[in-house]
Amino acid sequence: MSDYIIAIDQGTTSSRAVLYDRQLSPQASCNEELPLSYPQTGWVEQDPEVIWQSVLNCIRQLLQQNGIQAKQVAALALTNQRETTLLWDKKTGKTLYPAIVWQDRRTADLCQELKQKHEDSIRAKTGLLADPYFSATKLQWLLEHLPDARNRAESGELCFGTIDSFLLWRLTDGKVHATEASNASRTLLFNIHQQQWDQELLQLFAIPAAVLPQVHDSAGDFGCCNTELFNHPIPIVSLLGDQQAALLGQACVEPGMLKSTYGTGCFAMVNTGAKALHSKHQLLTTVAWRLKGECSYALEGSIFMAGATVQWLRDKLGIIQQASETETLANGVDYQQSELLIPAFTGLGAPYWQPKVQAALFGLSRNSGREEICAAALRSVAYQTQDLLLAMEKDGITIADIRVDGGMTVNRWFLQALADLTQHSISQSKISDATAFGTAFLAAWQLGWFSTLDAIQPLWQSAAQFTPQLNPEQQSICYQNWSSAIDRLLAEPPRDQ
Ligand code: G3P
Repeated sequence: MSDYIIAIDQGTTSSRAVLYDRQLSPQASCNEELPLSYPQTGWVEQDPEVIWQSVLNCIRQLLQQNGIQAKQVAALALTNQRETTLLWDKKTGKTLYPAIVWQDRRTADLCQELKQKHEDSIRAKTGLLADPYFSATKLQWLLEHLPDARNRAESGELCFGTIDSFLLWRLTDGKVHATEASNASRTLLFNIHQQQWDQELLQLFAIPAAVLPQVHDSAGDFGCCNTELFNHPIPIVSLLGDQQAALLGQACVEPGMLKSTYGTGCFAMVNTGAKALHSKHQLLTTVAWRLKGECSYALEGSIFMAGATVQWLRDKLGIIQQASETETLANGVDYQQSELLIPAFTGLGAPYWQPKVQAALFGLSRNSGREEICAAALRSVAYQTQDLLLAMEKDGITIADIRVDGGMTVNRWFLQALADLTQHSISQSKISDATAFGTAFLAAWQLGWFSTLDAIQPLWQSAAQFTPQLNPEQQSICYQNWSSAIDRLLAEPPRDQ
């Protein structure tokens, strides 16, 4: 009997495989870190072969180290960093260029032009904005800059895909060129109301339809892994963008339920059910999942630097050796600190959408040391979360409890700062890998191990609760200082990069 599900979480800075049993208890996991490269200012790339190998290694190690045979695995469940764009040769499977990562801003000027003329129709059709974050202008760049790419794309020789499609293609040895609705909804080419690629948008971005993957439901038959990979054709039955998977993994299945994930970036998402709620405050409308042809939607705020800000403290400033040190260092630094970090290292996402703005550290004095900078870095993530929550409230969302997950949430100091600076109660889930868990649950649902999506609710348990300890007046002063610093930064003319 096949008793296990393996969930693959292919993220920006690591690939991870988690083994679940029939009760969806995690049994074991494997992790591989991934490098990013920054060939020019604003460019962020990744080697697709390194991504692919890391996924294979994680699955193989998980099987080997736990003495599990592939035939005991009922299904593979996938979830992935979204928007990251790839183009490959249909015959050889070889990619034509590195993966252009979601954080990449090389198409900022193109987006600026699009904004003026087409932002309203783009927003109405896709729920997104004209920003380099999404896939369409990255793909357009590839088709324009790689020799002969456009001709070859038009004659059906090339495949475009986000990471989900690329992994599916590789896992099925080129048999399946597909994606699903939540990933498609991040491309800027997918009409989220009609649930299909949009002809007008394809024209606008000059994308030939022949390169596009088929869009499936988020659970179903995505084909089987090539037998040679794991000695058994493991079926692939679920696929979700990583933030949508975390929404499900946090059991936010009812409209109004909200999660915020602190991985490389931070992504706050609220389930809006069958309603695609259009934001008037610069948030994104996106597909949460599509099951049996029925779509659930979410409202999302995306921040580009969360855990990546802590990595910057470690890898570039060198003031810590590991992320956990920030907790001790920040500990004595009170809210009156003058230092404010705006970590716009890859521009600013929601609600500002300023791809060209650069990071800034304000308020330095002779007393500013690594303690203050660590505290300012952690608080910057909390302030940005507050920006998102305020935008959500203005869009009519009532925020009760915030369920948090992701690497940064092991930091209790940060979670208390989050409660204080947002004035909301923060719940840390017992499930540490909400993203992997979400897609694993979807696979289990597809296999019939659970009969409804609601069955995930009793599996969710709170590990810890953080309530605001800062009084509202103090919070308001702190947040005003943050907003003034943002205004100051946005008032500066963008520098040529
Ligand atoms: O939209 C980008 C997002 O999917 C990346 O997620 O987990 O790599 O921060 P993560």
